[in-house]
Amino acid sequence: MSNLAPAAGPQPEHRSEAIAVAAERRWAIIVGIIIALLIAMMVVTGLHWAAMPPSRVETIDVKTLHLSGEFVENNLGTVLQPDGKVTARLVAQRYSFVPQCIVVPADMPVTFRATSTDAIHGFVVGTTNANTMLIPGFVATFTTTFRHTGEHLMPCHEYCGTGHEAMWSRVQVLPADEFLAKARGGERLSCVPR
Ligand code: CUA
Repeated sequence: MSNLAPAAGPQPEHRSEAIAVAAERRWAIIVGIIIALLIAMMVVTGLHWAAMPPSRVETIDVKTLHLSGEFVENNLGTVLQPDGKVTARLVAQRYSFVPQCIVVPADMPVTFRATSTDAIHGFVVGTTNANTMLIPGFVATFTTTFRHTGEHLMPCHEYCGTGHEAMWSRVQVLPADEFLAKARGGERLSCVPR
């Protein structure tokens, strides 16, 4: 018997080719599944949003919002309404928020009302769930309660141009009694130093 006799089974080069083909096929199947999942996600979310439009849409005229109405400069800030509710109004523009420092009470529901004068902006208050997009022509509103006193950074979180990363405000959460003492008179509060 000779040592040069061919080994049983396929030649080594044939075996490695078969392994490579199997690996290719495995990856093709995995990638196919990923693509199918992504397409299914697009279809499902598209149908979901088409079937469930936003519950409320409030529009505002960008050209006049600084001249009259709710978002004129001296109406911005936080106010204690006659019915005891707290509303914080702000405007976003390239590249700042007005006011630059927002005061809110702790442990009381605060309703934010905000809009943008130019591009799409957005904000998030520190690590809280206060988070919205601001779209020119629309009023964004949500109500939240801050559980802890302290100060948060409130950065713009939608890319809005070259000054985006420098666009932020601060939010000061005061103890409710301290806030109420300041807000009793009904004036618009902010913590912008004057
Ligand atoms: Cu405003 Cu980014």
